[in-house]
Amino acid sequence: MSPPSSESFATQPAVVPERRTSDAVVVVHRSGPLRGEVVVPGAKNSVLKLMAATILADGEYRLRNVPDIADVRIMAELLGAIGITTTAAADVHDGELTLVNRGDLVPVAPYELVERIRASINVLGPLLGRVGRVRLSLPGGDDFGSRPIDMHLSGLEAMGAEITLEHGDVVATAERLHGADITFEFPSVGATENILTAAVHAKGTTVIDNAAREPEISDLCRMLISMGADIEGVGTSRLVVHGVEPGSLHATDHVTVPDRIQAATYVAAAAVTGGELFLRGARAEHMEMLLRRFGDMGLQIVPQHDGLTVFAPERLRSIDVATLPYPGIATDYKPLVVTMLAVGDGVGIVTENLYPGRFRYVEELCRLGADIRTDGHHAVVRGRPSLSGAPVRAPDIRAGAALVVAGLVADGTTTISEVHHIDRGYDDLVGRLAAVGAPIERRPPR
Ligand code: UD1
Repeated sequence: MSPPSSESFATQPAVVPERRTSDAVVVVHRSGPLRGEVVVPGAKNSVLKLMAATILADGEYRLRNVPDIADVRIMAELLGAIGITTTAAADVHDGELTLVNRGDLVPVAPYELVERIRASINVLGPLLGRVGRVRLSLPGGDDFGSRPIDMHLSGLEAMGAEITLEHGDVVATAERLHGADITFEFPSVGATENILTAAVHAKGTTVIDNAAREPEISDLCRMLISMGADIEGVGTSRLVVHGVEPGSLHATDHVTVPDRIQAATYVAAAAVTGGELFLRGARAEHMEMLLRRFGDMGLQIVPQHDGLTVFAPERLRSIDVATLPYPGIATDYKPLVVTMLAVGDGVGIVTENLYPGRFRYVEELCRLGADIRTDGHHAVVRGRPSLSGAPVRAPDIRAGAALVVAGLVADGTTTISEVHHIDRGYDDLVGRLAAVGAPIERRPPR
């Protein structure tokens, strides 16, 4: 099949959303021990993919435990441009989001929306599998180094897609994808999700070896299965997808898995303040390796049937940590771990194995008095008893939250700006911390 001309893509109404640049700041003072309960919201890295999966079948979907975060609104705008409507103004009401797919889809993901979140790439697989053609701008997202999508594209090509790059867009076509044996050289989260969602409608069986195993991928598999997809090996590194006939999937209701990264953020907040928190909804089995290492730092973590309780020691012990794909320690936890080590007793070495550029926030932590040296993939963190408040900027979602946590253990006042980064992935971080005793507030733009 020859590559499509731009005319084969109907143009959708121009959607030029206002960029949510918030000039609000978060002001944090040194905190005593945090005590109480925090309800852990649904996972950003799951819900965005669940939303994209609604492309696959017509009908009304109800997603529950949806976090009220900016990225959900951006994904809703992107899906709106494709032809899927969400509840009024894409607002999340009581953690619930309704999406309606009426089948008249425009398989174009425009730059203005795609450049704002990495997860926009997740519309590629479902659109190609359902509509047979896609034009998608190359994605953006957090600014932590180059993030190619070669594995997404070669996997789709192995399934029969024709792919070209035109003027910054990926243009993919396939009359009907066919099953294929795909072995990833690295267990990419996004590539696993795109191949999965493309494979559910493919002719024949697709085997994904060295698939990513993150809990968010199992969550997506569960939703796809409840829509009628035939997937074996959920939660393992070998996913087997038997394609179903186009048109045979249906809409569903689904509860989003709790956010292990937000949960870890509250563990870190308890840890640096010497506190004691119950994290309702947190799933210890999704954070096993991290919690084991937190135990090595002196935290006592008690899993409960509906969450977990964290008891922090007076001072954390330093440890060495390396990031790895799941079930290893996620790279998204790293700014939190570095912050905890910054006030630990001893020296910790942190090794980043996924994104070499992901130490940019260290400069901000050093402004708060942390003693951290970075060299390539490594950071050497010499613990100090406390930090010293200062104005800092949130460089990305997780690092922004880590700076908030650092502020809890910094003398004086820490003012975090560029909080729109934090808003992308945290559902009321400030309110949740304040409710358990943190002296923290969000100040609106002046
Ligand atoms: C997802 C998460 C992100 C998390 C990451 C790793 C979302 C929206 N984002 O990102 O928060 O940090 O998993 O846990 O869920 N790579 C390639 N070629 C590819 C695909 C990936 O070289 O085709 C590289 C990336 O550049 C990166 C590494 O593989 O160095 C990990 O990427 P991947 O697992 O795909 O992460 P994302 O899905 O982008």
